[in-house]
Amino acid sequence: MERTLILVKPDAMQRGLAFEVLSRLERRGLRLAGLRLLQVDEAMAERHYGEHEGKPFFAGLVAYIISSPIIAAVFEGTNAVAAARQTIGGTKPTEAAPGTIRGDLGMEIGRNLVHGSDSPQSAEREIGIFFEGQPVLDWQRETDRWVFE
Ligand code: RTP
Ligand code: MG
Repeated sequence: MERTLILVKPDAMQRGLAFEVLSRLERRGLRLAGLRLLQVDEAMAERHYGEHEGKPFFAGLVAYIISSPIIAAVFEGTNAVAAARQTIGGTKPTEAAPGTIRGDLGMEIGRNLVHGSDSPQSAEREIGIFFEGQPVLDWQRETDRWVFE
């Protein structure tokens, strides 16, 4: 099944919203396959956000993601990437739809609570960064047949 990498960003950690964020994705039907609490360092942040290197917000983005511990999670399901990004909402919280994580809980683009991979290829690359040498489990839930056809 398709996998996606989710990061609970420092603002969500500091605001006590970590499990609110994870819970919304879990309740959507996505199956948790990996979970880590970690402190990202600059090298890891630059690797993860490599596609944004050179953009005006890059330095701030790196500073933001290393400013506190984060949670990295792998969720899986059919169309996990698209489902997670729909539940997360648009990049800019004031333009994200109500009912989404960012639309309900965020105010600023640089404090948008959560990351979700933008394609299955990105997910594979990002899972390699955040779960290098760490377990990602292959398991079946009793409820899977009530979520996935
Ligand atoms: P993410 O990667 O965090 O899931 O967010 P995304 O796909 O919706 O947005 P992306 O374009 O990948 O940007 C990554 C993160 O960079 C920050 N950003 N700031 N100030 C700006 O113009 C700007 N643009 C992007 C956001 O924190 C965004 O989540
Ligand atoms: Mg992105």
